[in-house]
Amino acid sequence: MKKKVVSFLASGRGSNFTAVAEKIRAGDIDATLGILVSDREEARALETARQYGMGAHFVDPRAYGGKGEFEKAIIALMKKAKTDLIVAAGYMRILSPVFVKAFANRIINIHPALLPSFPGVDGQRQAFEYGVKISGCTTHFIDEGTDTGPIILQAPVAVEKDDTAESLAARILKEEHRILPESVRLFCQGSLKVKGRKVIII
Ligand code: GAR
Repeated sequence: MKKKVVSFLASGRGSNFTAVAEKIRAGDIDATLGILVSDREEARALETARQYGMGAHFVDPRAYGGKGEFEKAIIALMKKAKTDLIVAAGYMRILSPVFVKAFANRIINIHPALLPSFPGVDGQRQAFEYGVKISGCTTHFIDEGTDTGPIILQAPVAVEKDDTAESLAARILKEEHRILPESVRLFCQGSLKVKGRKVIII
């Protein structure tokens, strides 16, 4: 089977990107690194991607006539790189239905809460402030909704008595760095089948 090309969308620090890229570089995930696209010029993820020798592209949302044109530019870059799978690794924009259709069931997102609870931004803090006893993280295929797509993997993280939103987020992040590479690995070896709302791991 031809190795899958894995590309990334990231808006910030990029620790989840690094977690996946390191596994690909080590050969633990049978895939090839594609490109990284960021909507923020100062994103540390861009710098890391350059260090890996990957194509690292800042696509400026303000340089286009609207979301459609902006996304078209990203889709063109992804296709040019022959991307099989896109990993949204801390990408803070909602993808339009056009983008989602262009890569149907081929975009994996990491979310820092146990979906369907606490979608959107700042999932760790939302859960902490709500007072849950268990939170965690979720990987899922992106669909047309916000954090609503078929779930691939989840990991629970217990809320401790002395936790702050920050300390909880730090423990959740450790689990993110485990389940995101694992989800990518499963995809790349052809083990993920989407059946309606469900992801069957074969
Ligand atoms: C991660 O915690 C990720 O789950 C979250 O942003 C952080 C990015 O960190 N993503 C979302 O909230 C998406 N809605 P990173 O840049 O170090 O990977």
